[in-house]
Amino acid sequence: MLDVTRPAFGHNWRVAIEFSERIRRIPVYPAAGAYAGSAPPVRLASNESPYPPIQPVIDAITRSLAGLNRYPDPTNALLRGRLAERYGVPAARIAIGNGSCDILLAAGEALLEPGAEVVYAWPSFSVYPHLSAASGARAIAVALDGEERHDLDAMLEQITVATRLVIVCNPNNPTSTAVALGQIKDFVERVPPYVCVILDEAYCEFNLLEDPDDSIELLEHHPNLVLLRTFSKVHGLCGLRVGFALCGSEDLPRAVDQVRQPFFCNALAQAAAIEALNHQDVVEDRVMRTIAERGAMEQGLRGLGLTPAESQANFCWFELPVERPEDAAERETQVMRGLEDRGVLVRGGSALGKQGALRVSYGTPEENVRFLAALAEVL
Ligand SMILES: Cc1ncc(COP(=O)(O)O)c(C=O)c1O
Repeated sequence: MLDVTRPAFGHNWRVAIEFSERIRRIPVYPAAGAYAGSAPPVRLASNESPYPPIQPVIDAITRSLAGLNRYPDPTNALLRGRLAERYGVPAARIAIGNGSCDILLAAGEALLEPGAEVVYAWPSFSVYPHLSAASGARAIAVALDGEERHDLDAMLEQITVATRLVIVCNPNNPTSTAVALGQIKDFVERVPPYVCVILDEAYCEFNLLEDPDDSIELLEHHPNLVLLRTFSKVHGLCGLRVGFALCGSEDLPRAVDQVRQPFFCNALAQAAAIEALNHQDVVEDRVMRTIAERGAMEQGLRGLGLTPAESQANFCWFELPVERPEDAAERETQVMRGLEDRGVLVRGGSALGKQGALRVSYGTPEENVRFLAALAEVL
């Protein structure tokens, strides 16, 4: 509410700018450390790909550089056309974003308002709380089950006439776990059709429980379903910012385009994504390497007496053992510092919804060996 009671300004007044109420509500995104200074050599904090973009993608970006005096295509026509071919979803049912986060935030803006509700699991992707804070909607965060997986039945119970959006992150960031597609299918069937369901599949290529193409079929039966995907993870293009959503109807792509600036996806990102889609073999190779590292990391962590959650992603999640629960946060800080001193950056659970846990992205085999050796020393 605007405060009109303050006195008029005099020429010697020094006051801070007054921001809107929603600025006070919106949580600050917990960015990984070490961007400003010299980053530790082993960066396992942001679930990035350790592999750089492939040469044909770099060539496509390079070819686009000379056209940067022109605005990018605001309709993303070529990219949506290629995605339509690749995934068998009509181009009009595909939204593009400046990263998939952009689509998520735009969906929040398009769907939510004071009085509306959004349901998601917790801990889950740290951007979800932003949606309710920015819109004034009520957030209902449903605890994960005992195995750090989404409790879909408990989430269903929270759906009311006020619910506009339900988000399921599968595999889940930060816990790395996935629920089977059969469970997702039952869930989506039971969600009322007036509620938008966003299935955030940023890590779906790494999920061995299903083929990432299998969830697409659900779109034919559920106009309220949105599959959120990204070029940031398996394609290794997070620095460019490009994501997409495959949708059950044309409504969501239209709505998210209405609430955003027109040129949300830059020309280099569009060119790179189009080229990346020509290299499914690279995706498969990266998935195989990640899965090999997943096995090695799991074994290494268990060897140190730790119990990682069952990962279906390109990262792992585990709690640090403590004698008393109240020591969890301090232990987390201690271990993070110890790792950083040894040149390894990981993400602490406190910023992600659970004190005393660590989330560690899989790097190259050498980086992972270095992380495990550092962790052994610190523990
Ligand atoms: C679950 C999940 N969804 C979406 C994103 C956003 O990715 P981007 O905006 O880079 O596409 C991330 C990034 O870490 C994520 O973990």
